[in-house]
Amino acid sequence: MNNLSLLKQEFLDKIANVSNLKELENLELEYFGRRKGKLTEILRGLKDLSEEERREQGKLANQIKQELKEAIKEKKGKFQVSNFKFQNEWIDVSAPGEKIIKGHFHPLSKIIDEISAIFEGMGFEISEGPEVETEWNNFDALNIPEEHPAREMWDTFWLRQNEIKNQKSKIKNNEKFLLRTHTSPVQIRYMQAHNPPLRIIAPGRIFRYEATDVSHSHTFYQLEGLMIDKDISIANFKAVITTFFQSLFKKDIKLRLRPSFYPFVEPGFDVDIICSVCEGKGCGVCGEDGWLELAGAGMVHPNVFKAVGYNPKDWQGFAFGFGIDRLAMMKYKIPDIRFFYSGDLRFLKQF
Ligand code: FA5
Repeated sequence: MNNLSLLKQEFLDKIANVSNLKELENLELEYFGRRKGKLTEILRGLKDLSEEERREQGKLANQIKQELKEAIKEKKGKFQVSNFKFQNEWIDVSAPGEKIIKGHFHPLSKIIDEISAIFEGMGFEISEGPEVETEWNNFDALNIPEEHPAREMWDTFWLRQNEIKNQKSKIKNNEKFLLRTHTSPVQIRYMQAHNPPLRIIAPGRIFRYEATDVSHSHTFYQLEGLMIDKDISIANFKAVITTFFQSLFKKDIKLRLRPSFYPFVEPGFDVDIICSVCEGKGCGVCGEDGWLELAGAGMVHPNVFKAVGYNPKDWQGFAFGFGIDRLAMMKYKIPDIRFFYSGDLRFLKQF
């Protein structure tokens, strides 16, 4: 009797610590296993007892057997509940994942990175300037004095003085501020801070007070370039931009230099390429011309050198200003500049 009570207690202690179905099965085997189960052996031994003992012990053994079986059943039930929960929450970690929609760079950022890498490969440094500029950097230092008709070439967003009053400490002599109309003032800033020889590019956003159409925007990006040394010529410029076009468009590009006027260069010219949207046939982007103007360029004017403190007798060089939006339009065959600023995901997702 004592043995049976001890066995029961031992079993109940063990089952309390069982934490999964496998352990429960082992415990059941330990006590109820057909050959060596602890309770099975006791029950098997009953036959060797006297009839009276057998009746008494047998009754108790059967009762304990029922209790232990009941305890097993109850525990199993609990595991099955959590098993059910487990099955419902089961995930197949080896199944292919859902596609995560990631953001990516804007096509203009992409082309700026690409252009920068190409020029870095040719030894150009990358420089930057502010979008809010002084009148002097944007115009005067570039040989465009006040009242000069050339100022009309760039319709300007002027800033009211009170809009920049928190920068007053930096304002000298009632200087006027504006949203830069081109990236050329970065030339001035760079030359004032560095001695020649030098070669830089300056990509950046610029602003013009003008109407938009398929190839014109009021806000767009330019790529300024400047190379100064003792003996730089237009031939160097042509070599640099030919290499640039080949690297960017991955093919030979037909280009033409057309005489043009910019007060900060002499001589000045525009750079056109065959329009890639219509392959030269004529379309809205190139104004039915077959050629699209991509840049203004020329040899740096002596007055610009004087403005930044360089001696024009010692130095010479070329400068250029590409429309980055137009480069992107030609590279990706985009028929309207306004797509870049539309925020339309159907357009942006294609890059
Ligand atoms: C300039 O802005 C000069 N600073 C370029 C320059 C630099 C000349 C250095 C000489 C030496 P322009 O206004 O032409 O020039 O603009 C240069 C290029 O910007 C154009 O060839 C064209 O590709 C692009 N561009 C001009 N206006 C727009 C516009 N509204 N929208 C988009 N791109 C434009």
